Amino acid sequence: MNEAISVHGLTAGFGPVNILHRVDLSVAPGARIAVIGRNGVGKTTLLKTLMGLADVHEGTVKLFGQDITRLSPRDRAHAGLGYVPQTRDIFPSLTVEENLVAGLKGRPRGDVAEAYELFPRLRERRHNGGAQLSGGEQQMLTVARTLLGRPRVLLLDEPLEGLAPIICQELMKTLAGLARATGVAVLLVEQKVEDALRFAESAVVLERGEVVHRSDSATLAARTDLLERYVGVAGEGHA
Ligand SMILES: Nc1ncnc2c1ncn2[C@@H]1O[C@H](COP(=O)(O)OP(=O)(O)OP(=O)(O)O)[C@@H](O)[C@H]1O
Ligand SMILES: [Mg+2]
Repeated sequence: MNEAISVHGLTAGFGPVNILHRVDLSVAPGARIAVIGRNGVGKTTLLKTLMGLADVHEGTVKLFGQDITRLSPRDRAHAGLGYVPQTRDIFPSLTVEENLVAGLKGRPRGDVAEAYELFPRLRERRHNGGAQLSGGEQQMLTVARTLLGRPRVLLLDEPLEGLAPIICQELMKTLAGLARATGVAVLLVEQKVEDALRFAESAVVLERGEVVHRSDSATLAARTDLLERYVGVAGEGHA
């Protein structure tokens, strides 16, 4: 089987408390999946569990067929998992360029140019301190630094939060192009449902830690009843 990441019967949480219940999920290389649902349903917990930052009580997580359920977060990163957490993750006292170098994992310093090609704005700000960046620029920096680690599977937790609509579209386009060009698989958690469903080919809806719907994105986009019930939006006028 050639799934980039696959999750079987995952029940997980923090300490003895289960947040996720029997979650099944898989993403093929180069494929893009959206995970949506209301606040507090367990979206971030799902990504944390995949990254080894939560406690698994049952089930397995596999990366390209390798069971990584018990690996440390560090070993998962080495195995090819890239994680952009919901809280922006930059070093505020370092410059943009120093932040990017920190993401290179030992590759030559000149490779930061890849990040500047994807996000020209970061090149303009390369000597600025992380703390001087706008929220959107910090978000780009977090994504860019994660991509420099050349992940095979990219976990994104609300990367569009706080970004202007035009930047959201640019970022989604950049990531979709990258998935096509490099085969990186993308698992996107996002509250901006319309953007998420446009970006991803398939979608799952979480409710109280359980998958309550899965389909291709177009099918879900047309199900205004489900979007209303589980996300609280009625398809945003595009059904
Ligand atoms: N470290 C933790 N310890 C205990 N409970 C936690 C912890 N982190 C989250 N939770 C609980 O787990 C549940 C799911 O939280 P989670 O952050 O996964 O939700 P979410 O779907 O990402 O929400 P949001 O859309 O607001 O980001 C919530 O009830 C939350 O209070
Ligand atoms: Mg969250």
